[in-house]
Amino acid sequence: MRHLLSTADLGREDAVRILDTAEEMSQVSAREVKKLPVLRGRTVVNLFFEDSTRTRISFEAAAKRLSADVINFSAKGSSVSKGESLQDTAQTLAAMGADAVVVRHPGSGAPARLAAAGWIGAPILNAGDGTHEHPTQALLDAFTLRRALAGLPASGPAEGDRARGAGLDGAQVAIVGDVLHSRVARSNVHLLRALGAHVSLIAPPTLLPWGVHTWPAEVFYDFDEALAAHDFDAVMMLRVQFERMHQSFFPNTREYTRLWGLTEQRYRRLPAHTAIMHPGPMNRGFEICASAADAERALILDQVENGVSVRMAALYELLTGDGTEAQQ
Ligand code: CP
Repeated sequence: MRHLLSTADLGREDAVRILDTAEEMSQVSAREVKKLPVLRGRTVVNLFFEDSTRTRISFEAAAKRLSADVINFSAKGSSVSKGESLQDTAQTLAAMGADAVVVRHPGSGAPARLAAAGWIGAPILNAGDGTHEHPTQALLDAFTLRRALAGLPASGPAEGDRARGAGLDGAQVAIVGDVLHSRVARSNVHLLRALGAHVSLIAPPTLLPWGVHTWPAEVFYDFDEALAAHDFDAVMMLRVQFERMHQSFFPNTREYTRLWGLTEQRYRRLPAHTAIMHPGPMNRGFEICASAADAERALILDQVENGVSVRMAALYELLTGDGTEAQQ
């Protein structure tokens, strides 16, 4: 694997291998000394043109647990404000010795452009590009769900190998909310399908992208109809991304919560086994009520914890070449 840009390019075999490697990494994360020497002497650059809490910090933690050095770049306060381009910024950081570059950018396709242009020789990991993809988020979601479906603790060290080698065959997953602006939704649809899950997308028609009916997912406009149609293993709520909306929001906020939110009433009606997921950050009280977000069956903090192991696995694969040539 040369780069990690998109789950659309990731086959089942690659995905299962990364999830299995992440299982190994979760054992390291559970140790008192959370370190492996495998990337000693290597440098990982976090190149963030957009804000982040979870992704940037967990890539940093992942790189450090593999003994790599980390350089954090944030566009805010950098020479980007003076007009420096993506190419010049990336090449400047590469000149300081980057062995891998983790890129978050508001422009869909920016990490792919960096990879294809050959401006820098290092592997590129997409940490979220515009409304396009967020592959490591989808991998950590799949990891968390795979654990939960195997009856294992959703995060932390897991005894035995019940989850290893498995996909998510037959799992029923609902992805609910602002699909239009969600890179998490697109990455999850591709990955969950590759792993054998059935995906339902639930959203108001105004928050679905053009061409969504060609995606490998069932589409519902009505949350309650979808809940009646399927016995979901997981309901993944999406954040409504007001910052990407350039027109007035329709439906209005009160209608949105009532019709597409995981309200107290809807949460109480979910089957007992249905896990609650959210990639974060959450709009509490808007797309998800506090009782659901804080419920015992909510996997939201497990998703965050697993993000470190999954990103360790991705960095390990790309920097040690221990993988296949799935993505050139
Ligand atoms: N889920 C996610 O990408 O969160 P951050 O924006 O905090 O990185």
